[in-house]
Amino acid sequence: MAAKIVVVGSFNAGLTFKSRRLPAEGESILGDYSVSEGGKGSNQAVQVARLGGESHMVGCVGRDSYGEMAINLWRREGVDYSYVRISDEDHTGVAVILVDERGVNMIVIDPGANYLLSKRDVDEARDLILSADVLLTVLEIPVETAVYSCKVAKEGGVMTIFNPAPAQPILPDAFKYIDIMTPNETELKTLLGLPPDKLAKVGDLASKLIQKGVGKVVVTLGEKGGYVRDGRRGYAFPAFKVNTIDPTGAGDAFNGALAVALAEGMNLDEAVKFAAAAGALTVTKLEVIPALPYRKEVERFLEERGREWKVGGG
Ligand code: RIB
Repeated sequence: MAAKIVVVGSFNAGLTFKSRRLPAEGESILGDYSVSEGGKGSNQAVQVARLGGESHMVGCVGRDSYGEMAINLWRREGVDYSYVRISDEDHTGVAVILVDERGVNMIVIDPGANYLLSKRDVDEARDLILSADVLLTVLEIPVETAVYSCKVAKEGGVMTIFNPAPAQPILPDAFKYIDIMTPNETELKTLLGLPPDKLAKVGDLASKLIQKGVGKVVVTLGEKGGYVRDGRRGYAFPAFKVNTIDPTGAGDAFNGALAVALAEGMNLDEAVKFAAAAGALTVTKLEVIPALPYRKEVERFLEERGREWKVGGG
């Protein structure tokens, strides 16, 4: 039976501009434009489905053409959207994404209807959440909704993965509902109330999250790989070296794949390797949805490149 994953998260239409370089302050430059589906929650739900998971989305979109774009995507990708609310109160979320030829990006998001997703929506999806193997959530929806979804899942014995992106602080009370937290370095510092430029060892910061009540921490560090910390040990893991065209969505691929792997019963070390392979494949193509890999691609990649994976001490 397929691993069942519920994503409580966001959808954004992604307006991507690819240009030779990023504009400077006050400057206008030319670039190639495309519009496609995005939003961290939806990307993760699609990644789950492409890896063979039973994928369910809980979210909120506006009654507009980008909302229709979301529904069409989920229908096409086999993501269940029975618990996505269509609202007249706000527009569907939109992200403007600038990418340069080195593969460096900048993103501005107007969350729109994503910010209407409430505890009530989570309560309506309670039975679905309690029947899942893993609950995955992100911070492109209100923090209290994301935390509440973890509370509902955790109290019902469902594993929770909390991807704290984009960076926002959460109340101290919330950490105990999180089995696995997946911040990047900036998000990790924000969660601990530190400025982004604070110099500190990632391993030490991850330990502080464990002390606050999080079960396990997987820090993603882009091309530098990442760091795993649980109550007993910590270690650095590498990134697979690939040709980066567009890094957008790599974190979503990582989180979706991590959820599938853990729901299927892989241990955390195997799951992180599987997730890193999905993330690496995603950066090799422009935009997100065209780039999120299918199960066979990840398995082939791991057959060919898996031996490069050597975790370090920490
Ligand atoms: O993580 C990538 C996503 O972040 C993009 O799809 C964009 O919508 C932003 O939400």
